[in-house]
This record gives sequence, C-alpha cells and structure tokens, in this order.
Amino acid sequence: MLSYLTAICIIVKALRMQSELLLVLLLSVCVGSSPLSKKKAYNKLLLISFDGFRWDYDQDVDTPNLDKLVKEGVKAKYINPPAITMTSPSHFTTITGRWIEDHGVVHNIMFNDTTGSRVPHKATLKRSEWWDNGALPLWITAQNQGLRTASFFYPGGGVNYSGQAVNRFLVEDQGSPDDNETEWRQNIDTVMGWFAKEDFDFVTLYYGEPDNVGHSKGPETEERRKVIQQIDRTIGYLRDSMYKSGLTDHLNVILTSDHGMTTIKKAEDVKEIILGDYVNLLKLTRFDLLDYGGFGMITPREGKQQDVYDALKNAHPNLRVYKKEEIPDNFHIKKHARIQPIVLLADLGFNINSRLVLDINKGDHGFSNEEMDMKMFFRAFGPDFKQNFLAEPFDSVSIYPLMCELLGVVPEANNGSFGDTKAMLIGKLLIKKQQNPYCVF
Ligand SMILES: *[C@@H]1O[C@H](CO)[C@@H](O)[C@H](O)[C@H]1NC(C)=O
Ligand SMILES: *[C@@H]1O[C@H](CO)[C@@H](O)[C@H](O)[C@H]1NC(C)=O
Ligand SMILES: *[C@@H]1O[C@H](CO)[C@@H](O)[C@H](O)[C@H]1NC(C)=O
Ligand SMILES: *[C@@H]1O[C@H](CO)[C@@H](O)[C@H](O)[C@H]1NC(C)=O
Ligand SMILES: [Zn+2]
Repeated sequence: MLSYLTAICIIVKALRMQSELLLVLLLSVCVGSSPLSKKKAYNKLLLISFDGFRWDYDQDVDTPNLDKLVKEGVKAKYINPPAITMTSPSHFTTITGRWIEDHGVVHNIMFNDTTGSRVPHKATLKRSEWWDNGALPLWITAQNQGLRTASFFYPGGGVNYSGQAVNRFLVEDQGSPDDNETEWRQNIDTVMGWFAKEDFDFVTLYYGEPDNVGHSKGPETEERRKVIQQIDRTIGYLRDSMYKSGLTDHLNVILTSDHGMTTIKKAEDVKEIILGDYVNLLKLTRFDLLDYGGFGMITPREGKQQDVYDALKNAHPNLRVYKKEEIPDNFHIKKHARIQPIVLLADLGFNINSRLVLDINKGDHGFSNEEMDMKMFFRAFGPDFKQNFLAEPFDSVSIYPLMCELLGVVPEANNGSFGDTKAMLIGKLLIKKQQNPYCVF
C-alpha cells in the first residue's frame, strides 16, 4: 500500500518536473520568437498624411471613395492639432505622441538665434540635429521591438535618432512637384510592395497636398476642390491596390493630416499686421521668425525685451503677444528652450508680417489650434477598426498610443491617451493583446 502510494508520488513528481520543464521550454520559445509571433498576431499599419487637409474639405465636393469609407471604417468629426499648427511640429507630435515642448520641433524652419542661421523646411528633412531631441518616434521604437518600418516622405523619417535610422526611408527632393497623380499612384505601389513582398509592418506615407493648393489658391476655391477629388481617387486606388496585394484583411490604414487652412485677410478688407509699423525691429531685436503665417517668435536684443513687448502688446487688435513665461500652459510649447522670449499669435486670417506684406499666399495656417479652420481630418479602416463608426474629436497626440496598440508595440512615455480612440477598435484586438506577446499561462 505504502509502496503503491510512493510510486504514485514519484510519478506525480516526475510529471510535475516535466511540466515545469515544458513551461520553461514554452517560455523560452515564446520569448525567443516574440517579434515573430507579434508579426503574426498583429496586423500591419499604414499611416497616410495629407498635408493641410482641413477636417471639412470633403464636405463641398463629391468624394465617393471617402464617403464609402465612412460606412466601412471610422471617421472622426475632426481632430485637434498641437498649438503650433505647422507641418513639422504637428507631424512630429503624431509620430511621437509628445507635445511640442517635449519633442522640440517647434517650427518648420531650423534656426539658431545666436548665429541667425535659418534652414528652410525641406532642407531640415535631412538634419538629425533638428529632430533628434530625445523623443523617440514610433519607427525607431517599433524597430527596437522587432518590427520593420519605413517612411515615404514623412517629415522626420529621414534622420537618425540616437544614431538609429528608420529601416527604409525616402526623403522628398527639393522642388519636386506635389500634385502629380501618376506619382501619387506609383508611391502607393511602392508602399504596397514593401508590405506584401518585403514584410514591412509599419509605413508612413506623406503627400504635400492639399497644403500647396490651399496656400497658393486659397481653401475656398475650385482648385482646392479639384485636389480633394484627386486625393479621393488616390484613396480608391489604394483600396484596389490593397485588394490586389492580398492586404485588405491584414493592413490597417489611418488617414490624417497636420493642420487646416484659412483664407488670408487682405488690406482692402482689414488692417494687416505689419510689425515694423510699431517697433524698430533692427534696433530692438536680434533674431525673429516672422512672415510665416499666423505664428511668430522674436528674440529681443539684450535688455530690450520689455521695450519690444510694450511696443507690440496693444499694437494691433488682432495680434496676441506673449512673453515666453506668459504663454498658457495648455499650449504645451513654453517649456522648450527653442521657444524664443516673445511669441506672437494672430487672429484667424491675419498673417504676421515683419516689415512689408511680402506674403502672396491666399491661404495659410499657424493660427490657434482652437480655430475650426485649423482642425485636421481623420479616417481609419482595416481589420481592427469598426465599421460605420463616428468618433468624437480628440487631440492628435493620441494617434500615437492608437498606433502602438494596433502594432502591439509597447509605447514610449507619451502625452496621448488610448482612451480617446479605444472605442474605434473591434474587441478582437484587445483580446489578442492579452494573449500576446507576454505569453501568460
Ligand atoms: C548656435 O550656434 C552657436 C555658434 O555656432 C553654437 O555655439 C550654439 O550651440 C548653437 N545653438 C544651438 C541651439 O544649436
Ligand atoms: C545617419 O547615420 C548614418 C550612419 O552613421 C550616416 O551615414 C548618415 O549620414 C546619418 N544621417 C543623417 C541624416 O544624419
Ligand atoms: C508625372 O509623373 C510622371 C511619372 O514620373 C511623369 O512621366 C509625368 O511627366 C509627370 N507629369 C507632370 C505633369 O509633371
Ligand atoms: C508629456 O509626457 C512626458 C513624458 O511622459 C512628460 O514628461 C510630460 O510631463 C508630459 N506633459 C504633460 C503636459 O503632461
Ligand atoms: Zn503649409
């Protein structure tokens, strides 16, 4: 009887040891192949940004493909850009999930207020020192967790972060046309190839329209509406290409933007803002970023800050003037060293001119992110998104945690909230997350 029990005991012990061994083996398999299993368990993600696509641009023109997406995917009424409504600052907030004061890309122009140097927007796209300020963009984080990522013209995708480059990147050439529909389709073909033939997991794709047409012709024009129809056809082309590449059930797509656009008010209708009329810029300032839409910064000469401030504070009824320390916290810009001592923000439609009205733009941005004309467009579709789902407006900083969730990537510290977008997703993804990649037994 005793020996019988002992025998059972030995067998049970042996079994237990075996199962422990099995557990250890399973765990090591699981840890060892974590990137692989993540790749299998999670769908791929394409983020497309159309520069300057205002939230309501699809409402005054026929857009059959975008309309179809409303039924087959998610639409947010609009989303809020960060407080500096410009291309580089806003795109970098989307890809890092950080406020501007946290990522440091405070302007489209790279500048040094000591030397007075200014590097124009397109040339900054190859300058790591402008972008690499400690906030890691999603490409790098995802790569470090075993995924393959690429950037097609997306601002910030062409530089190194802590010495690391994006797996594959293309940087837009200076002076290349932004509105060639044939090239737009070729770019989609290229990206589909990256996903389908080279197993990339995450790609960002950037288009320079409708920003260009919004600037040159104005947002309320037939020319702008034509570009929106071109974008609509391109989205139709994208969906056909996804289908032909077998990606329809494996690729999530987010379509968004960086800011909106508004018509610039001209001298016949309003008194334009010309700072030189109120302050001697040459005498009192040593650096400025002006003549660039509705947002500007000034660096006074030594001891001249109060003089500049006093001269401008009540100079023009449509100009807001802040000392750096007075900037409202909820702009999330004032903590950064690159923000200059005096910051200017004009009312909607008033450009900030330094000495003359040189700006021939009919439309512009850079105005307060609270203005409806600055709000951005947001759509999403794919296997993890609900259909026919209308989302409430949210801050663009929350696109980042959504993208991490979709890719199964553990996010960096960020300022977004997954709670803003969680309701867009079907439940399956959330269950998948529990099963993987942590291998809970
Ligand atoms: C600006 O240029 C000066 C002189 O070359 C340099 O010492 C300084 O570090 C630069 N500032 C920034 C913020 O890059
Ligand atoms: C990124 O790093 C590589 C390797 O060190 C270097 O060749 C390349 O020029 C760097 N790119 C930029 C934009 O600094
Ligand atoms: C558009 O791009 C295609 C392909 O690069 C080129 O052949 C064509 O000439 C371009 N069209 C225009 C109007 O620039
Ligand atoms: C934004 O996120 C960073 C990183 O977690 C944090 O240090 C910073 O305080 C956050 N900003 C705000 C306004 O919460
Ligand atoms: Zn622009």
